[in-house]
Amino acid sequence: MADNNDALVETAVESMAAATTLAELDEVRVQYLGKKGKLRALQAELKSLSPEEKREFGKMLNSVKERIQSALNDRKEALEASEKSGPDLEMVDVTLPGVRTLPGHRHPLIATMEEVKSILLGLGFRYDDYPEVESEFFNFDALNTPDWHPARDMHDSFYTTKGNVLRTHTSAFQTRAMKQFGPPPLRAMTSGRCYRRDEIDASHFPIFHQLDVIAIDENISFADLKWVLYQVASSLFGDDVQLRFRPSYFPFTTPSAEVDVMFNGKWLEILGAGMIRPEVLEAGGVDPEKWQGFAFGLGLDRMAMIRHGITDIRYMYENEEAFLRQF
Ligand code: PHE
Repeated sequence: MADNNDALVETAVESMAAATTLAELDEVRVQYLGKKGKLRALQAELKSLSPEEKREFGKMLNSVKERIQSALNDRKEALEASEKSGPDLEMVDVTLPGVRTLPGHRHPLIATMEEVKSILLGLGFRYDDYPEVESEFFNFDALNTPDWHPARDMHDSFYTTKGNVLRTHTSAFQTRAMKQFGPPPLRAMTSGRCYRRDEIDASHFPIFHQLDVIAIDENISFADLKWVLYQVASSLFGDDVQLRFRPSYFPFTTPSAEVDVMFNGKWLEILGAGMIRPEVLEAGGVDPEKWQGFAFGLGLDRMAMIRHGITDIRYMYENEEAFLRQF
């Protein structure tokens, strides 16, 4: 009899294991412990037994009931736990490729700016940032660009409040720096965003970046300017770099030059330069009888584009990941 009932417990446990939902498990419970269940049927046999046998049989029935009940409880707990955590968790596909976090890096424009900046820091030029919203005075008047000058036309500049513009070039820093740092010698530079009302195309964008430099001292000449420019250009483009100086005009320098670099068999214009005009030194509080200086300003967008073979300036501002990843 004992064997029979071990088998009964075993098949009960097997059915419980086969139950995959709480509802299925409850069916198993009814089958064994319910009013018309298998244990009730066994209980009915008690009647036909002697008192001695009844005691034995009763004990055995109780133990079977307990074992089935405790197995039911265990299975119920397990099913409840897995129903709570949801079926998704069991469906995680461990063979799917992971999501990789790529490390960030500098934009080609900023990388170029940092490079030029570090070359000039090495030559003893200080670096400071200056306002992007600039007074007409520092952006134009102080640079010998009076209000009848075409560069001040509404079509070229973004005006903010009366008398203020978004700087149209970083040269706006020149007389600010002279005033700020007092009597020369002075070697200073700045860099950053400039704004002009240009129509957008492959080589024009209303926002662009420049880096401007001034050096003021006694006996500074155009030769010093050329030397510094060759240092910068050879660091960027290699020792055998070729530069070409073309006479040009800027209101704030004289003589003035536009400088081209030979790149892939072509002359490319990269910067404007010249000796600072006495009017500009005066506007900065520097005595032009005693001091001379040179200035140059380079377009960083163009420079970055040349170096990386970028054909359209708009790529520099769209921040497409596919574009940026290449650098
Ligand atoms: N500011 C001039 C430009 O935007 C460049 C320049 C800077 C020229 C310094 C001479 C001296 O084109």
